[in-house]
Amino acid sequence: FAEFGSVPTKLKKEAGKTLDDLKKEAENKIQALKERLETNTAREDFFDYSLPGLTPNVGHLHPITQSLNRVISIFREIGFGIEFGPEVETDYYNFSALNFADNHPARDMQDTFFIDDNILLRTHTSPIQIRTMLKQKPPIRILAPGRVYRNEAINPRSHCVFHQVEGLYVDENVTFSELKTTLEVFAKRFFGNDVKIRFRPSFFPFTEPSAEVDVSCFICGGKGCRLCKHTGWLEILGCGMVHPNVLKNVGIDPEKYTGYAFGMGIDRTALLKYGINDIRLY
Ligand code: DAH
Repeated sequence: FAEFGSVPTKLKKEAGKTLDDLKKEAENKIQALKERLETNTAREDFFDYSLPGLTPNVGHLHPITQSLNRVISIFREIGFGIEFGPEVETDYYNFSALNFADNHPARDMQDTFFIDDNILLRTHTSPIQIRTMLKQKPPIRILAPGRVYRNEAINPRSHCVFHQVEGLYVDENVTFSELKTTLEVFAKRFFGNDVKIRFRPSFFPFTEPSAEVDVSCFICGGKGCRLCKHTGWLEILGCGMVHPNVLKNVGIDPEKYTGYAFGMGIDRTALLKYGINDIRLY
């Protein structure tokens, strides 16, 4: 149409007719398609191929992984490195080096999955303390997450496989009050700014003094509910000052260095945090 002006006069008539025919044909075609579209979309089996596709469900990280990642990132921010250790351990790293007496009940077959007299599935992440102190010199500040095993009956609240995070800080002049503030900072970041923590005297062979730490129930705010068994408190971890015997076992002078350690279970905490009522669902 735009070039019609440049067509020689004697051809104008014929060209004009051809163009008109073409235009009519195009208009008819468009009209027919429009009508077909209108009647088709009204049909029940009409499928519009131009619609965006369904978003595939890509899933999400396991609640335990999410909790572990959160704990790790909080301690990373305050200067802790990450260490890992083997799940199949020897008696030495899992017990002896941690100052367990030869006849300590924790070595009992009922608690520990022994592979033979000397080899076992680690019952806690504390052996990573020993492995780390043997290969690093103080200052040592590490967090060690991992899977642990205990020969226990499986029920909604406990499983024979679960997860712990071990913390260790060894340097000159490390004090119990640093342990307290570090754990308080952690608890507030992890459970929320309103939570309180309390320390109860306890016993572990590898720490002296030892304590267990409770956090005020973040479900009921400490008023007492079914989850905290109406005490207002939830136990979250064990901790203490590294026992001088443990430092001696790894060749660190307990006269020069002190340290604190803590060990925290992840599975039950994640149950509470995510409102899951049966550990077996993991
Ligand atoms: N290993 C202990 C357990 O499995 C937890 C623990 C308590 C770890 C006190 C520590 C600690 O490092 O200092 O029950």
